[in-house]
Amino acid sequence: MNQEVITHIVNEFNTPIYIYDGEKIEHQYKLLKSCLPKHFEVFYSVKANPLLGVCQLFKKLGSQIEVASLAELQTAFQAGFTPDQIIFTSPGKTIEELETSIDRQIYSINVESLEEAILINHIGQKKGRQVPISVRINPDFNLSGAGLRMTGVPTQFGIDQSQLEEALGTIQSLPYLKLIGLHIYTGSQMLAASLIIKNMEEIIKLAITVSETYAFPLQFLDLGGGFGIPYFTGEQYLDMDELGKGLQTVWETYAHKLEGTRIGVESGRFLMAESGLFVTKVLYVKESKGTKYVVCDGGSNHHASSAFLGRHIRNNFPMHVHSQEEQDELTEVTVVGSLCTPTDVIGQKVKLGKVDSGDYIVVEKSGAYGLTHSPVLFLSHQLPAEVLYKQGQVHVLRERGSVEDFFKGQKLLSTHEELLQRT
Ligand SMILES: Cc1ncc(COP(=O)(O)O)c(C=O)c1O
Repeated sequence: MNQEVITHIVNEFNTPIYIYDGEKIEHQYKLLKSCLPKHFEVFYSVKANPLLGVCQLFKKLGSQIEVASLAELQTAFQAGFTPDQIIFTSPGKTIEELETSIDRQIYSINVESLEEAILINHIGQKKGRQVPISVRINPDFNLSGAGLRMTGVPTQFGIDQSQLEEALGTIQSLPYLKLIGLHIYTGSQMLAASLIIKNMEEIIKLAITVSETYAFPLQFLDLGGGFGIPYFTGEQYLDMDELGKGLQTVWETYAHKLEGTRIGVESGRFLMAESGLFVTKVLYVKESKGTKYVVCDGGSNHHASSAFLGRHIRNNFPMHVHSQEEQDELTEVTVVGSLCTPTDVIGQKVKLGKVDSGDYIVVEKSGAYGLTHSPVLFLSHQLPAEVLYKQGQVHVLRERGSVEDFFKGQKLLSTHEELLQRT
């Protein structure tokens, strides 16, 4: 996607805006697929970017899909995924979510607690249908190195390995549950191929042991993922050759024990992050006590990840001034949005070329956990538009929000006569 395309999109659709590069999405999907053993299936994690158009693209590319809420489940169906392509993972599934998953006969509900399993059995009984489930395990092993570690520690995700005997004993005795598989998700944002390989080997070994110990055929094994992308200075791209070779070796070692098992990996960030740009217009440039502030029309309410939400280390997303030749002289600036809070900083002490009001700041690597991860109601600014650029065409995936959106579902107090009279 070149500079002219971005200029054209910004002129036509205004800012703030998310622009996704369709070719890049396709490239990332094919890259990931090419380094997995042939038998492995990729499940796109909708949480990374839940746009219908994005999900449609993954469907077209041959992906399966992993959902984590009722709306994500409906997104999967609207994007054209068939039930056998859908798995549902979330520690807090509601009855409505479970009932819909069961009614629509999705491939696997990944169960995160014994209580959830008992509830699914109860719903299955009510509906007179056996429900296929996979059990998510919180394994004892904990391979450090993930950006966000999710196993080997106390967690709301999955059932502790030490509780498996009791949990699987009960699950196997419940007539409306069909235990088809196991799921382990050890963490996110791993950049060392060796770590992912080791992780997946440990998961495979554990899954084989568990299925043999508790004597059930492993129809499905969800290996999780954690495929990362480098955001910050000093981070390296995942070595895809090393990953491919390592996973192939692991697979060849254990494939004979997993004949007939469907093997899945999940990915959101790796597939989407690199494809997205967040473009915001500079409204004002000002200086305060020696710090230069670049005040933009988009901020942490639209791109919380760039504003360090959920991260301990305050490093900046890569960003630049749009359409600028390489500059000899860079200035340190702080890029902020328009919220009335000092935390509304999407770039702290960033080195940028000359920047004036009317310029555009482009935040790179913004395709995953962008708008979806942001507190969009804070200060009631309209939602940015989201567009996809693919094969020379711009497709609007989400129209710019309107002020009216903020009133949807709200009721004026004056409609509650009685309450008003009492106050
Ligand atoms: C169970 C599960 N699957 C998939 C993902 C997606 O992770 P990523 O976007 O890093 O690939 C997550 C992220 O937290 C997750 O918890």
